[in-house]
Amino acid sequence: MKVLGVETSCDETSAAVVRDGGEILSNVVSSQVALHRAYGGVVPELASRNHLQLIDSVIEQALDEARTPIDEIDAVAATYGPGLASSLLIGLNAAKGVAFAASKPFVGINHMEAHLYSPLLADAPANALPMVSLIVSGGHTILAHAVAIGKHEILGQTVDDAAGEAFDKVAKLLGLGYPGGPEIEKLAERGNPTAIDFPRSMLHDGTYNFSFSGLKTSVLYFLRKNPQHSVADVCASFQEAVVDVLVGKVVRAATELEVKTVSVSGGVSINRRLREKLGAECARRGLQLLLAPPKLCTDNAAMIAALAYHKLQCGRHSDYSLEIAPSMGLGVSS
Ligand code: KG4
Ligand code: ZN
Repeated sequence: MKVLGVETSCDETSAAVVRDGGEILSNVVSSQVALHRAYGGVVPELASRNHLQLIDSVIEQALDEARTPIDEIDAVAATYGPGLASSLLIGLNAAKGVAFAASKPFVGINHMEAHLYSPLLADAPANALPMVSLIVSGGHTILAHAVAIGKHEILGQTVDDAAGEAFDKVAKLLGLGYPGGPEIEKLAERGNPTAIDFPRSMLHDGTYNFSFSGLKTSVLYFLRKNPQHSVADVCASFQEAVVDVLVGKVVRAATELEVKTVSVSGGVSINRRLREKLGAECARRGLQLLLAPPKLCTDNAAMIAALAYHKLQCGRHSDYSLEIAPSMGLGVSS
């Protein structure tokens, strides 16, 4: 079964064709990062205007690259939330239009749920589930326990800023570019991660929740008190604090729930220090670690099409009248 997926929840215009929920025939991602960089963050009006300009050609390119005319597509899927309302509208309406015109089933997909299962896209072992899954993006930090595709519970989440948001805000404090994660990671390579003892908020509080806004404030105070600081040391020490909390919580959850697989998804999961420390910790405890390749960590339509396949296998699809749900949580399934 071939599914055409569409994703426009934030600042990537993406369309993909995926066969049987795992074989990626095409995954076109048109990033608007350069457009928003000048403003230090995503400007919703610019994002939606750009989605509108690109969506038709991105869908066409995805079908072309997959050498699949629309009548050979079995279903069409699109993200319907969470995300920026004006951006979600473009992809959802385009996908519903394509599905309706070609008389194909349509499936609305929860963006966070697609991130959650994205590590299963790339050659996942048969025994991957159950897993403890950490989703770390610009807007969310969620720790979940998934027992089957589409069957999961939230163990904890951030009580304030998301991990990616913390990277972006600290980068701004340091006068670095947007998005902040890759900039901080690059500078951190030359810095000392133990130079500054930034707080590991909520690491030992016994919950699976996170908090990153205190860490951001600590960085702010440190910069004010130490005008001669080394930017590389600040980046390395900040990154280490974020990574220690993420690794600590996800590994404790796997141990306490007696789950043998751990996965991480979302934009922050590209971070090499996070991958390295989590890899070492999982190896030490005999846990299997699933990480998606970087192109599947950030926003992409392949993860949308893949999850839609599994929904369809369970007999689920959506009405052509499905509306956007900009602030829906992970708990809501399509
Ligand atoms: O999942 P994503 O592409 O978009 C959503 O928010 O849904 O995640 C984007 C976030 C941004 O906050 C960005 O700074 C962060 O992921 N990010 C990183 C890295 N690459 C992207 N954070 C840390 N290290 C990175 N290498
Ligand atoms: Zn995302």
